Amino acid sequence: MIRLENLSLVFGLGTEDENEALKNLSLTVNPGDFITIIGSNGAGKTTLYNAIAGTYPLHGGRIFLSEGGAPGPGGRPPEREITREPEYRRARYIGRIFQNPLLGTAGRMSLEDNMMIAREKGYRGLKIGLNRRTREFFRERLSALGMGLENRLTDNVELFSGGQRQALTLLMTVMSRPSLLLLDEHTAALDPHNAELVMDLTLRFARDYNLTVMMITHNMSHALATGNRLLMMDGGEIILDIGAGEKAKLTTAGLVQRFKDIKQKELASDELLLDTGPRV
Ligand SMILES: Nc1ncnc2c1ncn2[C@@H]1O[C@H](COP(=O)(O)OP(=O)(O)O)[C@@H](O)[C@H]1O
Ligand SMILES: [Mg+2]
Repeated sequence: MIRLENLSLVFGLGTEDENEALKNLSLTVNPGDFITIIGSNGAGKTTLYNAIAGTYPLHGGRIFLSEGGAPGPGGRPPEREITREPEYRRARYIGRIFQNPLLGTAGRMSLEDNMMIAREKGYRGLKIGLNRRTREFFRERLSALGMGLENRLTDNVELFSGGQRQALTLLMTVMSRPSLLLLDEHTAALDPHNAELVMDLTLRFARDYNLTVMMITHNMSHALATGNRLLMMDGGEIILDIGAGEKAKLTTAGLVQRFKDIKQKELASDELLLDTGPRV
């Protein structure tokens, strides 16, 4: 789906604050992968997403995308290089959801207008206006969230709670049919009940729409319980990449031990170690 080859990204290059946030990082994300990503604050997780999404230019490395189609030479799907493609163009096929539930929707616009934007992004056919049939279609999609939003089409989105807005962001992003969905602690700002709700929706949509997902989380037990693959980042590198089989057997204590074995040091005493609570 996406292939990262030796990515390097340096902040403050040539200054005394020079900081290599991605160090020669390589990764192949396969179609249908659901990858969870953990790592201490400052490990480079968000920077990795910024690199994939094209937010910052890279100092080195290349990014390739394959979106299905007939296999090319060697049985692999045909790839195209997107290293220099601007962020707004990548946004057509890369969906991204942030921790802040206000970022994914336009608060001053009605729910149906927000839904219209999402629909047009994913709909590659003829554009149509907001009529009875589209409203029916929106109601049907919204009722899947189980929040009663299907009855509030003309309400401005700013009236909704954080949990409702993040669930809506998720639905709208999925409706735009992204080839890759990047989740950056997208439930961390919600209360435990809504966090669980949005997490359940995430898993359901990923399965129903056959999505390829990368999910950054602070919650180690969630990272272990979710998806088919787990990455641990540290110092701008992927220091662990484990598949479903090994993941199923690992405990959070085992994961911490793996970190110690690799880095020959204790895991920094931040939330990666401490926060195994309800935040997901
Ligand atoms: N826009 C930026 N300008 C300068 N330094 C940055 C910027 N974004 C991130 N960094 C630095 O890059 C490193 C990785 O940050 P980040 O990717 O946000 O970590 P994480 O998401 O794993 O907590 C950190 O040292 C951080 O301070
Ligand atoms: Mg981050």
